[in-house]
Amino acid sequence: MVNYKKMEKKGGLFVIEYRDGVFGIHGQTVSMLLRVDPYGLLELLHFGEPVGTEDACAFDYRPGLGWGSSILLKDGDTASCPDALGLAWSGPGRGDYRESPLELAGSSADFRYESYEILEEAIPMGCGLPQAHGEGETLKITLSQEGAKLHLYFSVFGDVVVRRTVLENTGEDTIVLTKLMSSLLDLSGSYEMTTFDGGWIAEARPHTVPVLDSRVVNESTTGASSNRHNPGFLLSEPGAGEEYGRVYGFNLVYSGNHYAAAQRSLQGLTRVVQGISPSSFLTRVEPGAVFETPEAVMTFSDRGFGGVSQAMHRFVQEHIIPAQWNGKERPVLFNSWEGCMFHFDHRRLVSLAKDAKDLGCELFVLDDGWFGKRDDDHAGLGDYDVNKKKLPHGLKGLGEKIRELGMQFGLWFEPESVNMDSDLYRAHPDWALTDRFEPLLGRHQLLLDLTKQEVRDYIVDKVGSTLDSAPITYVKWDMNRHSVALGEKAHSYILGLYEVLERIFVPRPHVLLESCSSGGNRFDLGMLCYGPQIWCSDDTDPIERIAIQEGLSYLYPQSTFGAHVSASPHAQTLRATPLVTRGNVSFFGCLGYELDLKHLLKIEKQQIREQIALYKKYRRVFQFGAFQRLEGGWQVSGEDVTLAATFRKLVPAAPGYERLRLRGLDREKRYRLSTVPQQLRIGQFGSLVKHVAPVDLDPNGMILRIADRHITMPDGALEITASGAALMAGARLLPVFRGTGYDQQQRTLGDFGSELYIIEEVGNERS
Ligand code: DGJ
Repeated sequence: MVNYKKMEKKGGLFVIEYRDGVFGIHGQTVSMLLRVDPYGLLELLHFGEPVGTEDACAFDYRPGLGWGSSILLKDGDTASCPDALGLAWSGPGRGDYRESPLELAGSSADFRYESYEILEEAIPMGCGLPQAHGEGETLKITLSQEGAKLHLYFSVFGDVVVRRTVLENTGEDTIVLTKLMSSLLDLSGSYEMTTFDGGWIAEARPHTVPVLDSRVVNESTTGASSNRHNPGFLLSEPGAGEEYGRVYGFNLVYSGNHYAAAQRSLQGLTRVVQGISPSSFLTRVEPGAVFETPEAVMTFSDRGFGGVSQAMHRFVQEHIIPAQWNGKERPVLFNSWEGCMFHFDHRRLVSLAKDAKDLGCELFVLDDGWFGKRDDDHAGLGDYDVNKKKLPHGLKGLGEKIRELGMQFGLWFEPESVNMDSDLYRAHPDWALTDRFEPLLGRHQLLLDLTKQEVRDYIVDKVGSTLDSAPITYVKWDMNRHSVALGEKAHSYILGLYEVLERIFVPRPHVLLESCSSGGNRFDLGMLCYGPQIWCSDDTDPIERIAIQEGLSYLYPQSTFGAHVSASPHAQTLRATPLVTRGNVSFFGCLGYELDLKHLLKIEKQQIREQIALYKKYRRVFQFGAFQRLEGGWQVSGEDVTLAATFRKLVPAAPGYERLRLRGLDREKRYRLSTVPQQLRIGQFGSLVKHVAPVDLDPNGMILRIADRHITMPDGALEITASGAALMAGARLLPVFRGTGYDQQQRTLGDFGSELYIIEEVGNERS
């Protein structure tokens, strides 16, 4: 069995050991067993359920592997067939014809085992890539061939194994490297692969395909981790569900072009590789130099997708986001963008801030449009001098005014880009990132070439001095176009970005950084190493957001989601949705409001006040509670309270009975479940009102229009006390409106309605 004594010594979380020729890497719910074969190849015996290092014999399969046309490492030894082995590393041209994790511009590679070390801590990278932090042992296995070494690092943090590769040139000739993966695993069994794909305003849609004998690839080539294909993905055994079945979760601590592929072999092994995209990639590693890959992240659960999500959520909170934000409650913010766009001045902002404060917002964020000649998105990017026409008192004056109102002040930047119509571009056209052809614009802008030291220095100086010039405690860091850089240049750009983020934000740990890239175009673990939250999507329609936030929730905790309530009908879908639903969806993230407050009705303002008060009361649970996906809703659980929301799309006529099946409660304990009360607007009843009113009223007439602005009626609210066992079996909810009139014993939600339930422990006594 696992050496629990040692685990205890290490804080009860993990152990790495070498025993009887086997490397055992053990987390709380996961084990990885590796072995060096007689020919020096690194085999993966097991990755999955926690087992003992001494259990390795249970996973042995060696004798009699090679046959037919396959190549053997030693003629006559059929157990020496690389193509049939379950490996944790491989190379091209030496008998393994599955996907190679390494390519050397067409040369074969033959790295064999040389040595290992178990180190008491995670080893810092030399190249400036971000990495997981915290206590964690590290296994370093070195493989070598003439003139080069490969160092494979495995660390374990709780339920998650983190892995990376370093190529070291120990010879005298330059090594031309065209592909180097962070990880390779040959898993036993057949799987389905779920990727999270999409585009602008439609991020993180899950797609599941079987992994058969052809390669399934999840890759981005836009220069960013991208809204097309998030770097995180899942492999699950067919039939796995939210609470049951064997599921693996994978991710990459990287914000640039990424690559992952899975493919099943004839022997029934599924090869999984992860790393930087090899597309157009070529780098020269000079004698004495190294090339380091980003960290690949992997976990396993035999408790379904929910088990993987919870392991990944804990990992991101404890080992990825900057330590000072772990468990630190985030402010409810107001953002100027959707309400004002580029059209504001000091007075309008102060008036908005007063309204936002009155509603309960704690942080006022000034978005795009505050600098240079930026009155639309054609000009000004790059010129971070405040626009004195809009802000005659400067950022300092505005920031201080907002502080006086009792709010924090935050600011938007897009430092990686430049408009051709800007002083910066006129002065330094060579700072733009271009290729040898005519410049191609995206959102009327070019990227700056962050591989250049002078560009990085300019950004650090401009952003840093702006932050120090006013009382700013929050930054929204935006990036709004795809790159024209390929391969190594795209990678160097990302290294440049990381250097800039490090230089600006590490010395200013009080600044809450929320990254953004046209919404969720760079929602990845690399960006989360610098700032604990990311703007999920420019799509704030709550019905779309349910899909986006739910997709992201498979691999990222809700505390990383910037989630705002915006206007209805929505700007991107023209869909009208109830304010309740907009609030309930945004509650499961870092809540914000992003709409013109002056157009709100009094009853809407009151509703928002109540939303914010409720969110603040349960903020810890909403932001950091254990998140679970339910049938038709979500749940978060803290120590003594669970909150669950249900979301409805279209209401059918004659709806059936509905139930709410909660998860993770104590079967024996008793809980009070109560609906958060909600009010119905008269207008919701349309011409029905005229049938119940004593006089004949025109449903489109003035009287009802005015009544709709002022009069609300309570909707049905459930209150029951029951055991955890009963609530997990599924509490029956109040019936849904079915054309029989208003009744407080039913729920009159309508299309896109939503409810929030509070579930509190009331002890073990029966009532
Ligand atoms: C794109 C972002 O995603 C939006 O939230 C907003 O900040 C705009 N850029 C501003 O130009």
